[in-house]
Amino acid sequence: MLKIINVVGARPNFMKIAPVIDEMRRRADRLQPRLVHTGQHYDETMSESFFTDLAMPQADINLEVGSASHAEQTARIMMAFEQVLITERPDWVVVVGDVNSTMAATLVAAKMAVRVAHIEAGLRSRDRQMPEEINRLVTDALADLLLTPSRDADENLQREGIAADKIRFVGNVMIDTLFRSLERAKQSTVLARFNVRPGAFAAMTMHRPSNVDDRATLAGILDAIEAIQKRLPIIFPVHPRTRARLEEFGLLKRAHGLRGLTLSEPLGYLDFLQLYSNSRLVLTDSGGIQEETTALGIPCLTLRHNTERPVTISQGTNRIVGNDTEVIRREAFAALDSPSPRGRVPELWDGQAAVRIVDAIEEASRF
Ligand code: UD1
Repeated sequence: MLKIINVVGARPNFMKIAPVIDEMRRRADRLQPRLVHTGQHYDETMSESFFTDLAMPQADINLEVGSASHAEQTARIMMAFEQVLITERPDWVVVVGDVNSTMAATLVAAKMAVRVAHIEAGLRSRDRQMPEEINRLVTDALADLLLTPSRDADENLQREGIAADKIRFVGNVMIDTLFRSLERAKQSTVLARFNVRPGAFAAMTMHRPSNVDDRATLAGILDAIEAIQKRLPIIFPVHPRTRARLEEFGLLKRAHGLRGLTLSEPLGYLDFLQLYSNSRLVLTDSGGIQEETTALGIPCLTLRHNTERPVTISQGTNRIVGNDTEVIRREAFAALDSPSPRGRVPELWDGQAAVRIVDAIEEASRF
């Protein structure tokens, strides 16, 4: 029996682990999966609602670390997770994505000689100002099995000197969840609640420190939103970090005053899927949404200067536009004035990544 501890912490982790846990449970004769939630995200809208929407089992253990500075949050996760590994003595720790919980759990496991599998390994923005880039570099340097979503990720890892036999190209597991959830998302009443018609609105998300933590940058993005919402309504579910900054910088009132802009609480997985999959255009600085829009062929403008997900540009419907007011406005208008781009769904984004992931873990366990 292989005992496997799967670790989640923040919103973008949940949809990546859900199909993996499902697949492990299907192999209950050989695998004993456990789920640890670090508690990095703890609001109902950022955490619990995803467990419900994704029909995930409750976490077996919640470390309840909450919010803190990077060092403190990482340290709290490490201290609590070390106790978990001492008690549980698993064969594998499985981590996903690039959040602080991913890196913290990896560091602990590596030092205790527990094998680590990293799902979504090998992505690189080459921007070390991004906390996620540091998390990716550390996690991939220490992991024993690197499960990649795209070929560029394999190349990045090889270039960093990681042995080829540790790397497995398995495809994008988040797209497993996306394809499985499309039908159920149609039950969502989100379009009626926001009073928008399919194809006649834009969906927006934004929470990166580089966009929201500096007043001038955030105000400049709001200027662009002001221009765009005159052409079509924008629905913007607001991350807690972004809401806090809008308030702190005295910009929340102005945002509320824009008639075509609707600010809401963060949405659950199914509501948000129903929202963006019916939108004319998506504006985001998220990593995952660049991929989800590519899988569904929805035009996406990414408010960043780089991406760790280049296939969404070379094959998909994503464009990098940065965070300058005039560029965002111009690119949004250009997207609205032209037919939607014809993208391609990248290789192995086929809804079967979880099967390949669990196969790879079982295979690696034989050695
Ligand atoms: C984290 C991830 C980021 C991911 C994002 C998705 C890291 C370094 N960053 O960023 O990669 O894209 O999650 O949401 O791991 N807060 C709440 N309630 C919550 C969670 C957070 O109010 O449930 C607020 C707190 O004020 C907190 C702030 O949001 O200090 C930031 O939370 P944190 O988990 O540190 O980072 P995110 O910005 O959410």
